[in-house]
Amino acid sequence: MHDRPPRTYGRVKGRTLTAASAARVAALLPRLATPPGRFDPRALKPDATEVWLEIGFGGGEHLAGQAERRPECLILGVEPFVNGVASLVRHVEALALTNVRVCQGDARDLVARLPDASLDRVFILFPDPWPKARHHKRRLMHTSFIAELARVMRPGGRLRFATDWRDYAGWTLERLLKSPAWSWTAARAADWRMAPADHLRTRYEAKALGDTPPVFLEFVRR
Ligand SMILES: C[S@@+](CC[C@H](N)C(=O)[O-])C[C@H]1O[C@@H](n2cnc3c(N)ncnc32)[C@H](O)[C@@H]1O
Repeated sequence: MHDRPPRTYGRVKGRTLTAASAARVAALLPRLATPPGRFDPRALKPDATEVWLEIGFGGGEHLAGQAERRPECLILGVEPFVNGVASLVRHVEALALTNVRVCQGDARDLVARLPDASLDRVFILFPDPWPKARHHKRRLMHTSFIAELARVMRPGGRLRFATDWRDYAGWTLERLLKSPAWSWTAARAADWRMAPADHLRTRYEAKALGDTPPVFLEFVRR
């Protein structure tokens, strides 16, 4: 039997959605949702020049902001937290975005459904840090998931990982550097200490709950 990996997220539901929010989700999510089963994201918007994926988009502010800036790119988002999905749907409506698709669920399930080399860019921004050693198994950035990300990324595609937890930065860096599929773009400390020029500050980042200033790791698929 295939063992289910441990859950990487906390709650999937917060406060009950307001009637307006629930109605918005009911009206718009069917059109925004990624298809069930295996699918090729390039077919969802054939005129898109690139396909990006944001994993664990939280309230969706970063995803919506990038989608507004880069209308030529299709941006997929995956997030298990119902209230986060509702928040992204609100941003999509407010900004009249036509280049966003949403999957409510676990990124590991979504990525498993994507074809090889079907993504140009992946963002994993301030993922749940699971700082206690006994919870490290709940972290998203395990070797097996890093290999899956390499499978779905086209050569030359870019992965951005950000965290404000020192130990999680080191943990992720160690695993990405060990993988022959990825090449770290940093040439000097400022490259990982400073936010990349196209970064948009996230809600979780603004809370500064971690134990270090944000670290930005940018990797290219070999
Ligand atoms: C600490 S929050 C950060 C949210 C957002 N990226 C930000 O910076 O504001 C981490 C998010 O990742 C989501 N998450 C955790 N595990 C996930 C998984 N396996 N697939 C997709 N999202 C996940 C959580 O539900 C949560 O919303």
